[in-house]
Amino acid sequence: MTIPIVFHAKAMATRILSFAFGVVVVAILLLYFDHSINENQESMVIPIPGGAVGPESFSFDGHGGGPYTGVSDGRIIRWLANESRWVDFAVTSPERNGCEGPHDHSQTEHICGRPLGLRFNEKTGQLYIADAYMGLLVVGPNGGLASPIAKEVDGIAFGFTNSLDIDQDSGDVYFTDSSTRFPRRNHVSVIISGDNTGRLVKFEAKSKKTTLLLDNLRFPNGVALSKSGDFLLFVETTTCKLYKLWLKTPKVGNVEVIAQFPGFPDNIKRNKNGEFWVGINSRRGKLLEWVISNPWIGNALVRLFPIDITKAHLCLARLIGRYGMGIRLDENGNVVEILDSSKGKRWKFVSEVDEENEDFWIGSVTNSFVVREKTSITPNQ
Ligand SMILES: *[C@@H]1O[C@H](CO)[C@@H](O)[C@H](O)[C@H]1NC(C)=O
Repeated sequence: MTIPIVFHAKAMATRILSFAFGVVVVAILLLYFDHSINENQESMVIPIPGGAVGPESFSFDGHGGGPYTGVSDGRIIRWLANESRWVDFAVTSPERNGCEGPHDHSQTEHICGRPLGLRFNEKTGQLYIADAYMGLLVVGPNGGLASPIAKEVDGIAFGFTNSLDIDQDSGDVYFTDSSTRFPRRNHVSVIISGDNTGRLVKFEAKSKKTTLLLDNLRFPNGVALSKSGDFLLFVETTTCKLYKLWLKTPKVGNVEVIAQFPGFPDNIKRNKNGEFWVGINSRRGKLLEWVISNPWIGNALVRLFPIDITKAHLCLARLIGRYGMGIRLDENGNVVEILDSSKGKRWKFVSEVDEENEDFWIGSVTNSFVVREKTSITPNQ
């Protein structure tokens, strides 16, 4: 009886081995296809070159070129559609030594820069940049080293410049400083400590003056002007709220909450119909909700684990997995459409959804790729 058992065991071992081999092959194939460019598909995953990650925000130049996006090593890169590749466009810091290459860029971003919000002035062709460490900057149509134009408002330095939009008539720039207490690399601390040092700021193109519009905000993040420029919308990431601030009309100066999101909102982008796409990065779970509603817990955590708390949260978010969505809203904050990550990893950790002609460009502050998806293949929900 022993011989058949040995034989059986051998057959089992072979089966297990071939199964394991199969799993590895499938995993490699999945990884490969996940990161490969396939022009024929209607959804394209475009890797970021040079070991950088985090294409957080997009802008197209006045001639439809781009998108341009800022990445973790401090570069702003431009997508050349005709050559299917990224090329370097601009940087926000003259110090480029040791910035690029495969290392943890969050440790060098205060030196190398971390460009987040981007927007072209369509008349002048200049690109305005909100860099998390360098403040508000501008660079000409040919790129290169950007020049700082604002580093503080009312005598208080920007701590975490984040998102911006431009009034294309006046050239005025509206942007957010997410916190004066925590830098970008500690962004989770901004949330769990209940930090309210965030500000909404205006840079006037003519006078070159910077004025404070709102302060005491909890992680103000994405900002977008309405089509007519009558109002702007901005989100507070900590409270998951969408606000409307009137800039013109008799309501000027009024602030209203017009929507509440189920997860942490990041950037806002207006589409050509005057609606707004809001990128939702991750779920606001029960645990975080409890911490946020008891700021003393968050503050204790932040003091104990100043940087690691951000990493711990990112790991947790990765484990919890497939979350992230784009929400389309009308001018009054009514939800028109929701696109989520149920279709796979394309919509994970969404920072921005940019609807441009027939495409969605989906950015993320953590992913190592940009997703481009035909708007026509995404079913309305
Ligand atoms: C692609 O477009 C860019 C920018 O317009 C241009 O500089 C470049 O020469 C073009 N490349 C080819 C192969 O046509």
